Amino acid sequence: MILEGYLNQLKEKGKIHIVDKPISKKLEIAAVLNKMQPEPVLFKNVKESDFHVVGNLFCTKQQIASYFDIGVQDIIPTLTEAIERRSPPQEVENAACQEVVESDVDLTRLPILFHNEVDGGPYISSGVVVASHPDYGQNLDFHRAMQIGKDRMVTRVVRGRDFHGFLEEEGELDVAYCIGNTPEVLIAAATSVETGVNELEIANALREMRVTKAKTVDLLIPADCEFVLEGTVYLEEKQDEGPFIDLTETVDVVRQEPVFEVKKITHRKTGIWQALLPGKLEHKLLMGMPREPTVFRKVKERGVDVLDVYITPGGASWLHIALKIDKKHDDDGLRAIEAAFEGHTSGKHVWVYDKDIDIYDEREREWAMATRFQADEDLLVKDREPGSSLDPSAEPDTKMTTKVGFDCTKSLETKGKSFAKAKFPDVDLKKFMG
Ligand SMILES: Cc1cc2nc3c(=O)[nH]c(=O)nc-3n(C[C@H](O)[C@H](O)[C@H](O)COP(=O)(O)O)c2cc1C
Repeated sequence: MILEGYLNQLKEKGKIHIVDKPISKKLEIAAVLNKMQPEPVLFKNVKESDFHVVGNLFCTKQQIASYFDIGVQDIIPTLTEAIERRSPPQEVENAACQEVVESDVDLTRLPILFHNEVDGGPYISSGVVVASHPDYGQNLDFHRAMQIGKDRMVTRVVRGRDFHGFLEEEGELDVAYCIGNTPEVLIAAATSVETGVNELEIANALREMRVTKAKTVDLLIPADCEFVLEGTVYLEEKQDEGPFIDLTETVDVVRQEPVFEVKKITHRKTGIWQALLPGKLEHKLLMGMPREPTVFRKVKERGVDVLDVYITPGGASWLHIALKIDKKHDDDGLRAIEAAFEGHTSGKHVWVYDKDIDIYDEREREWAMATRFQADEDLLVKDREPGSSLDPSAEPDTKMTTKVGFDCTKSLETKGKSFAKAKFPDVDLKKFMG
C-alpha cells in the first residue's frame, strides 16, 4: 500500500496532525515528533526540502492493528501465520517508487533529519534495506545510515545479522535503501527468520504487495515505497558512525562502519519522507513486536497454553518479556520462562502472568507480582549468559549478563486467601452525576 493512501485515511478520521508552518529538518521536526508521540504528524513545509515528512505513524500495537483492521490480540497469530504461509509478491513495471528517477545524486535535497544534538550527523532511521546473496537470495532488514557527503553515507551493521554475513562473504553488496513503507514491509524487515527466507514474501502474506526491479542494482524492491537509494555498501571502506541514540535511549558509541555509496535516487512524484525517532515508541515497537511470535511459538512448543506475549516498552522493547498463560500445571510458569529466553535470546527479564491479568497494564503486572510471587519458589536465575549489545549494564566486551524469570502466576490450589481481585458492581454514572 502507498503510504500517502494510508495518510489520507488518517486525515479522513482526523487521526493525523498537519503542520503547515515552516519547520527545519535540523532538530525541530524530531523535537515535535517526540512531544507528539504516539500521535502521527505530517510536516508540509520543511525549510530545507521540497518533500513532506511524516512520523509517529506506527507507535502502538493499536495503530498497527488498525492498519491491518484486526484486534491487538490478533497481531501475534497474524504475524505467525504470515511467516508460515509466505508467498512471492507480484512483480510490476512503472512502479510508484520510480515515478521520478533523479539524474544526479544529491542527498542534501532529501529531508534526512538531524534528530538530536548528540548525533554524529543527519540520519536515515526508517530505511528498509534490500540486499542479495548468490546462495541465499534476497534479504530485507533495517540499517541506520549517517549522511557524510552528497552521495555517501556510513551504515550500522550489527555483527551476526544476515546482512553482515552477506557483506563479510561478498566484500561489497549492492543495496536499495527503501524509505516510506507501510507496516507489512516494516514488520517483515524487522522479523528475524532463517537465513535464505526472503522477508518480502512475509510482507506479501501480511498484506498483498508489489515489487519492481531496481534501476541500477539487481534487486526486487517494494514498488510502492516513497524513496529508493540504490548503491553499494563496501566492507573494507569504513568511516566513523555515530554517536546516535539507540533502542535503550542511551547514546550509542562511535564505531568504524561500512560506507554506503549512493548511486541512484528514485521516488514518487509527491514522495513523503518517513521519519522514525531513534529509541522512541515506533523504534521500540518495530524492534520488539516481531520477536513476540517467535517467543509465542517456543512457549507453545513447551506445552504451555500461552495466550499473549508483550515485549514491553519499559524494557526498551528488547530486554523485558511479559507472558500471559492459561495455567494448567504448577510448573507452567517456570517452563514458559525457559522457553521465552530461547525464543528471544536478547531477553534479560521475563514475567509470567495468569489469564486474568492485563499484560498491557503495568500496574496490573506489578499487582500480580506483589500478590502472587514468592522468590523462594517462583524465581529463576540464569547466571552469566550471552546478553544484548544494547544493554549498557552487560559486561562491556563479552556482553555476558545474568537473566532472571519471575513466575507471577497464582498456585493452582488456593491454600489461604483468594488471589482474585474483588470487583465493585458497575453503575451508570449519568444516573447520579451532573
Ligand atoms: C527501526 C529499526 C532500526 C534498526 N537499525 C539497525 C541498524 O542500524 N543496524 C542493524 O544491524 N540492525 C538494525 N535493526 C535490526 C535489524 O534490522 C532486525 O533485527 C532484522 O530483523 C535483522 O534481520 P536478520 O535476522 O535477517 O538479520 C533495526 C531494526 C529496526 C526495527
